[in-house]
This record gives sequence, C-alpha cells and structure tokens, in this order.
Amino acid sequence: MHLLLVHSLFFSFGLARAAVTAYGPHVQSPFGTTTAASAAYTGAASYDQTILNAPAPPNPPPPTQFNIELQTGGDASGLSIQQEGSFLGFSIEFSVTTQVLGLNSSLLQVPFLNLMANLRQRGGSVKVRVGGNTQETATLVASTPDGAALEKYYGGSSNPTATPSLVFTSEIIKMMAEISALTEVYWYMGVPFNDTQHWRLQIAEVGEAMLGNYLIGLQAGNEPDLYSRHGHRPDSYSPQDYKDEFGLLIDAMNADSNIPNKNLLIGPNLAGVWSPTDVWQTGFATDFNQNLAALGVERYPTDNCYALFGIGTPRSGQDMFPSFLTHQAGKDIVNEFPGAPAYAQSVGKPFIMTETNTASCGGFPGLSDSFGAALWGIDYSLQLAYSNFSTVLFHVGGQSVYYNPFTPPVTNQSTFLQWTIGPIYYSALVVAEALGSSNVAQVLDLQANGGNDFTPGYAIYENGQPVRVALTNFITDPSGNSDYTASISIGGTVPAQVKVKYLLADSVAQTYNFTWAGQSFGGPFTSDGRPVGTLDVQTIPCDQTNNVCQVKVPAPGFALVFLTNNALSESDQSSTMTFPTTVYTDIDGPTFTIDPSVLATSNGEKGLADALAATSQGRQMSSALGIAQVLPSLVAVLAGALIVGRLALMR
Ligand SMILES: *[C@@H]1O[C@H](CO)[C@@H](O)[C@H](O)[C@H]1NC(C)=O
Ligand SMILES: *[C@@H]1O[C@H](CO)[C@@H](O)[C@H](O)[C@H]1NC(C)=O
Ligand SMILES: *[C@@H]1O[C@H](CO)[C@@H](O)[C@H](O)[C@H]1NC(C)=O
Repeated sequence: MHLLLVHSLFFSFGLARAAVTAYGPHVQSPFGTTTAASAAYTGAASYDQTILNAPAPPNPPPPTQFNIELQTGGDASGLSIQQEGSFLGFSIEFSVTTQVLGLNSSLLQVPFLNLMANLRQRGGSVKVRVGGNTQETATLVASTPDGAALEKYYGGSSNPTATPSLVFTSEIIKMMAEISALTEVYWYMGVPFNDTQHWRLQIAEVGEAMLGNYLIGLQAGNEPDLYSRHGHRPDSYSPQDYKDEFGLLIDAMNADSNIPNKNLLIGPNLAGVWSPTDVWQTGFATDFNQNLAALGVERYPTDNCYALFGIGTPRSGQDMFPSFLTHQAGKDIVNEFPGAPAYAQSVGKPFIMTETNTASCGGFPGLSDSFGAALWGIDYSLQLAYSNFSTVLFHVGGQSVYYNPFTPPVTNQSTFLQWTIGPIYYSALVVAEALGSSNVAQVLDLQANGGNDFTPGYAIYENGQPVRVALTNFITDPSGNSDYTASISIGGTVPAQVKVKYLLADSVAQTYNFTWAGQSFGGPFTSDGRPVGTLDVQTIPCDQTNNVCQVKVPAPGFALVFLTNNALSESDQSSTMTFPTTVYTDIDGPTFTIDPSVLATSNGEKGLADALAATSQGRQMSSALGIAQVLPSLVAVLAGALIVGRLALMR
C-alpha cells in the first residue's frame, strides 16, 4: 500500500533534490526496530560488498608540483566568517534515536559517546540534530504502551514517504541531556509542523527545560516546499503560507510560559523546490528576526531513488563516482544558494545546512561508503565553511542506507557485533581538526594548483595568521605518478618544521579501514567508537632560507598541515575521555552507572569525574580516583553497547 503510494508520488513530484528518508518494512527498515528487520538483516547496507572502480587519473594530469603562498598579518583577503570546530555535525533521524543515542536515559550507547568525545576532543564541541521527516508527526507523551522511550506506528502513517508516526517520552530528551553532559553535544530539534491549529509544543517545553543551553535550535517545518507534493498541504501552499504558519507558531510559543527562550527557531529548511529568496521575499527573516536562531536549508547533491523505488532517474554509483571526486562537487551545492549566506549575515543569522549527505534515498553502494566519500565530505564541508555557511549536518538514516557516518548493529546482533564507522565520520574528524577548538577559524579556498579540481587546498586562519593547510588529492594512482607536492611559503618566513596528519587509503574505491594519522575504525561491525592504532603525526622539516615547506599528498589522500604547535594542540585536547566497551560476556557482572541527575549538572569530563566520586549511592569512590581509572570499570550491558546509568555498583 505505502509502497505504491510512494511510487506514484515520487514519480510525479520528481524528488531528485529532496532529502528523503524512506521508511516501512518493505523498503528501508529503520534499523533494529522489529524482528522482521533483524531477520532481513543480511541485506542491510553494512553487509554490502560492492566495490567500485576508481576513476582513471585525469588526462592531461594536473601539475604534481605547485606553490601555495600564504599571506599573514591580516593581509589575506577572502576569508570566511569565523567558524566553530563543531562546524561538521550530524542529523539523526528522530525515529532511530533509540538505536543510535541509547534506549533511554539509563542506557546510553557507549560507541556513540566515544564518537562524540573524539570530535569534542578536536573541535571543542559537537552539534547534532534530532529530526528529519519523522519530527513532523512526533508527539511527546507521558508514557508509551510498552514502556519504551520511543515507538512508531507504520499503520497510522498517512504520509507518502511511509514515515512512521512517532510517540516518545521525555526519556529521549533526558538521554540527550546526559550525552551533552558527557561529551558536550549541542542539539537541534524540530517542532512538529503538521498541525498548525493545534501546536504540539512539548518538545520545546521539555527540550528547553532539560537541555538548557544545549538546545541551540528548533526547526519549524522540515522541507515545507515539499508539503503540498506530499499531500500535507493544498497544492497552492506557498512561501507566504509557510511564513504565516511560522507566525502562528511564534504566537503560540509567546503564549506558552513553559517556553522561556522564544528565540531558537530555524527555518525555512527547504528541500529545493522553493529558493531561499522566495522565502526571504515574504519578510520571513526580518519580521521574525528576533525569534530565529538560524536560517537553514537541506540538500543532497543527487539521489538514488530509482534503486529504492524504481522511479525517477536511474543512476549508478559507478557513473556518479567521478562527480564526487572533484572540488566542483562542493561548489555546485553552494551555487544552489546564491547570495543566501550573505543575506543571512545581513540579517545577523547563521546559515546552516541542516541535512545533507552523498545522495538521498540511501546513497549509492560502493560510493557512499567509500574513501572517495570521505574526501568529498572534507572538501564539501570546507567549501561550505569558506562560503559562509555556519554548520553542516550529515544525515544518519536507517540500517539500510549506505551513507551513514556511523551505524550500530541491529539490536539482536549487538551482543556480538560492534558499530560500523563510515567515511563521513572520518571527514568529521578531519574537519574538526582543521578548524580546531578556537572558534575563530576562518577558511580560505586557495584555488590551489591553478584552481585544479583534483587537487584542492584550503588555508585556515586564526586572528589574521595562517595556522593550518588542508590539501586533498582526489586521484587514485598506485604508480605514485599522481602524488603531488605543495610548496608552502608564508609571508615573513616558514617555521623550522611543520606537523602533518594524513587521511589515507589505497584507492578512492576502498571501503573501510581508512587511516587518519595512522588510526582507524576498522571494518564493518568492529568499532566501539574509539580510533585504533598508534597515532602517527609526521614532522616535515622546512627550508627557512628559501621560505618553503614541501608537503607531499599521495593519490589518493588528504593532508592536514599544522603550521604551529598551538595549531596542533588546539585540534587535539587529548585529555578528553572516551568510554571503553569490552563486555559482551559479562552481562551479569558488575555495572558502574552514572547518576543522570548528577550528570545533568556536571560539566564535561572533569565534572563527570567529580560526579563519579561524589555520589553517595552504592560504593563510595575516592575523589582521588582519576577518570581514567574509573571509566575502564564502566561495564556496558546489553551487548557491550550500552552504559547503565546509576552510579552504583549493581549486580
Ligand atoms: C535476529 O532476529 C531474527 C528474527 O527473530 C532472527 O531470525 C535472527 O536469527 C536473529 N539473529 C541473531 C543473530 O540472533
Ligand atoms: C531503560 O530501558 C531498560 C531496558 O528496556 C529498562 O530496563 C529500564 O527500566 C529503562 N529505564 C528507564 C529510566 O526507563
Ligand atoms: C564570507 O563573509 C565574509 C565576511 O562578510 C566576506 O568577506 C567574504 O567575502 C564572504 N565569502 C564569500 C565566499 O562570499
């Protein structure tokens, strides 16, 4: 039934640019939700063995030796606005939060904590959106029939993407608060926009109460330019209608004394049918200026809907692959929003990409999970940063999508399988380090190598000085003939040496086992969210007499050059804790837990150490006991994936 509906609507509406997450047991089951999903699991994306052919090196080849001259002392022009280390974050489909974040506030996914902690260590904090199509019909309830924190109803869904209706309890938001306390995650959520006569503002009420400053945005309307096509609004639904409804929402929030902060809204979250200008022209961003936290859009460069639904334009990952392996890929997406980041600046708002990834409708096997996608994710994100977007959120969909930055195993396999880390997560690590934790990073597209599309480069500035250089080589060439050497010179003089971290794989077509500075998250189902291997930071001596540092970038590969020691340490505050999980066999063993109420008021890892030490519940721990000693005792339950949350020693 749903599938037919999906077919016809997709076909007639041409969702090529839409951000679609499809649901329904017959298409892409959200992972771990039903036994049927489990049974069908060997068909899931994480098991897919597709390997594409890397495109041949371009002919003529780009020069393999070129100069990069970095201006200093405020002389550089064309720098972006100041960017935060949390620039690259994630968008997690609301319906899969209980698989990705944790079951409830007492059972957090330890790999997720680790993945966030890695990024916080590099960029200072992390931004995550919980939303997507499923945010529109979500309803916060006091309790669910079977006691779960989140339940979905396929049968009751009336929407063409077969998106389930959701009910959830405040446990979801409490869980998010605990994750924030542990790993400095800031959240975007979405206010349901499906019924503008009877607003359901509980997400805003409970979200603000429980998350406090960790709630940084409330999307209002998810792709409103697709509402009429999806049958959620009349055919005549226009930008002005959206603006009017947004106004009704503001009225309702103003009348709600349980929503102290009225200034968190994000719109218009367009899929691409309307242009941002269509919405600006209604006065949206000026009339509602004081209620807006940001202006946002959603965009995927292409789609693979034909493979999923048999409709639309057939595309093969192999044919599409070259279009991702170029500097132009990121520019093409920026070019879809001419003037929009500047307009956002003019009205004093950040402009954010609230949902994106390689391709909607699940991505392409062999492409979305390839090393090429990691290089694409880096160049695309840095291009957005250079172009004055303020944030980019890469989508995490269901078990059957190929583009996930990270994927937990389906629930009944979590006793013996760990998480699968995808290429976009490597992009996230790299971008967090490239921008660092200063929150004053400014990005410059160097038009490197004569603007060659295969060898892009960026400089990252802080306070007028270049601090890091990001260099990509999109070409795959095992002969070594396509490796290039960038000769970096700096106004004044180069340092005696620079430090370099490489992101490496043998080919852009390789899936899994990439290395970032020598460390990896391995193959499918092997990661607890911590990088494995010895950190390898290369030291490259510079020629101060000739003011040049020669940095080689293999084909394929990416190099992050740290021009100062401070630039390196800002990108690696290595004291940040991670969370071990080594527990599959010890399900009934001792379990350390973390008291949620203590976490809610704690402040990062220091606070957690104090919290662990301070509790009077269960076994008292010495305050001298460092976090490193405490955390290894955290025993995960439910398959080594979950951390139990009460700071008592339980049996
Ligand atoms: C997971 O559950 C499905 C459905 O009950 C079952 O067929 C499958 O064998 C289970 N897998 C494991 C590893 O237990
Ligand atoms: C969390 O889920 C577990 C497993 O279903 C359950 O035992 C526990 O009571 C739940 N905790 C809360 C606070 O709901
Ligand atoms: C980004 O914004 C800055 C500050 O307004 C501006 O100087 C720069 O030209 C903008 N960059 C682009 C690519 O538009």
